[in-house]
Amino acid sequence: MSGPILVFDSGIGGLSVLRPIHDALPGVGIVYVADDAAFPYGNWEDQALSEHIVELMGRLIARFEPSLVVVACNTASTLVLPPLRALYKPPFVGTVPAIKPAAETTQSGLVSVLATPGTMRRDYTRDLIKRFASSCHLRLVGSTNLAGIAEAHMRGEAVSDAAILAEIAPAFVELDGSRTDTVVLACTHYPFLLDRFEAVAPWEVAWIDPAPAIARRVVAVLREKGLEPETGEGAAFLTSGKAWVPALRPVLDERGLNPARSGGLEIDRSARRIV
Ligand code: DGL
Repeated sequence: MSGPILVFDSGIGGLSVLRPIHDALPGVGIVYVADDAAFPYGNWEDQALSEHIVELMGRLIARFEPSLVVVACNTASTLVLPPLRALYKPPFVGTVPAIKPAAETTQSGLVSVLATPGTMRRDYTRDLIKRFASSCHLRLVGSTNLAGIAEAHMRGEAVSDAAILAEIAPAFVELDGSRTDTVVLACTHYPFLLDRFEAVAPWEVAWIDPAPAIARRVVAVLREKGLEPETGEGAAFLTSGKAWVPALRPVLDERGLNPARSGGLEIDRSARRIV
């Protein structure tokens, strides 16, 4: 037996990845941490974001002693997986843009990647494109507002179709009589808006959500390393110290995260220590 699985993101996005992990490993203890105090990661400067996550992760590992960590955030994974793996003991499973499967399945050859501005400009993302999608016409769309729109939508606030369409419209490209047929959801917040995307999209496309593949990877890494995470009820924490809003409590519940055990994470900001 060892500690729980720690799933980490800047906000609610990682809950889209947690779902298939919970389904694949029923009964396994999962701790979810949303670094909402620092949301949105997509608009941070790289060096500052890297230092922030590395430091916070050290405190989370000391507090929860996880058997494995899932960085359920593209903006973080494309930046900090190497230092996290170098510094800390648990295995890390990251979330990076699903460019390879998109390039393998597109029929028209026109693929778009919808991501945060941070993920869009990373060398990691550019390398994936060079390695796997050189034969495609690939459009990278960096959205400043979409992660925040997903948070608002999930809190039960009204978000207009026009606001959503304005963010995704650049992903729909027509070129020489062909159209984009595949859009990679390269931010874990976006699957929560999938119904809204489908309703406003100018035409039908395949939306690629990497969450099921990440869950399979988690299961494979646990097996490879002979790790058996503890069983038991999950819980979800917010680094702001705030409580989860009522609209999100059923979302936690569906994923085995007990709303009654969930809430703010007490962080002593002067000493940057989690109490
Ligand atoms: N959910 C995160 C991702 O996958 C990013 C959202 C943010 O900008 O904080 O990239």
